[in-house]
Amino acid sequence: MASRVIAIDGPAGAGKSTTAEAVAEALGIAHLDSGALYRAVTLASLDAGIPLCAGTIVSLAHSLPVRLALVRNGFRPEIAGVDVTRAVRSERVTAEVSQVAAIPEVREWANRELWHAATQHPEGVVSDGRDIGTVVFPDAALKVFLTATSTERTRRRARQVGMAEEPEQLSRLAGELQRRDDLDSSREVAPLVPATDAMILDTTGMRFEDQVAKIVSRARKLFK
Ligand code: CDP
Repeated sequence: MASRVIAIDGPAGAGKSTTAEAVAEALGIAHLDSGALYRAVTLASLDAGIPLCAGTIVSLAHSLPVRLALVRNGFRPEIAGVDVTRAVRSERVTAEVSQVAAIPEVREWANRELWHAATQHPEGVVSDGRDIGTVVFPDAALKVFLTATSTERTRRRARQVGMAEEPEQLSRLAGELQRRDDLDSSREVAPLVPATDAMILDTTGMRFEDQVAKIVSRARKLFK
């Protein structure tokens, strides 16, 4: 287990990954993006054309393998040794990932990968996802639940993917985020909920630098 773990959970488009990346850089630890692992296993399954069910997905994940590999100071998703950082963000992966992530055996596989990855970085990790503080690293030194209004999250995601901020496109994107949040929050295993000991950070109207600074200063106090 990494010596220092910070867990950041929250709904889609809340800015978890960019925040986790910046926090990790400020603290000299590694960013471990659990969503990238669920996305990578979804991409591998879609490319292989296998049915999206437990046994086939998990054995494919082992045989390729699908993993988060430590490169310099961070982790990147790989399928059979190939960097899939960009490919995992495609729309077809986004459309299917929550269904794949709801399969308990897939989650068991992913958790083992995340635990293993965390041991690879000597200084520790900032891991972001949906169940990091509740299930994957329940002993994390600091847990943050990052959220923002649905309008704000939609706008941020539109900017992130370079989409024109037109009403029709924004409403389609809002629908996609909502559908994924509903699936992630209502599944039986490891649903999206804040850990009871998480610091809830509503970032609506907050500057990015300020939300990062808040987490970093809390972490520095804890890690002293
Ligand atoms: O970046 P975004 O918020 O769109 O999503 P992500 O963090 O890349 O995660 C993609 C999907 O993976 C989520 O919608 C969840 O279905 C799943 N996921 C999960 O179930 N548990 C995690 N710890 C991380 C992601």
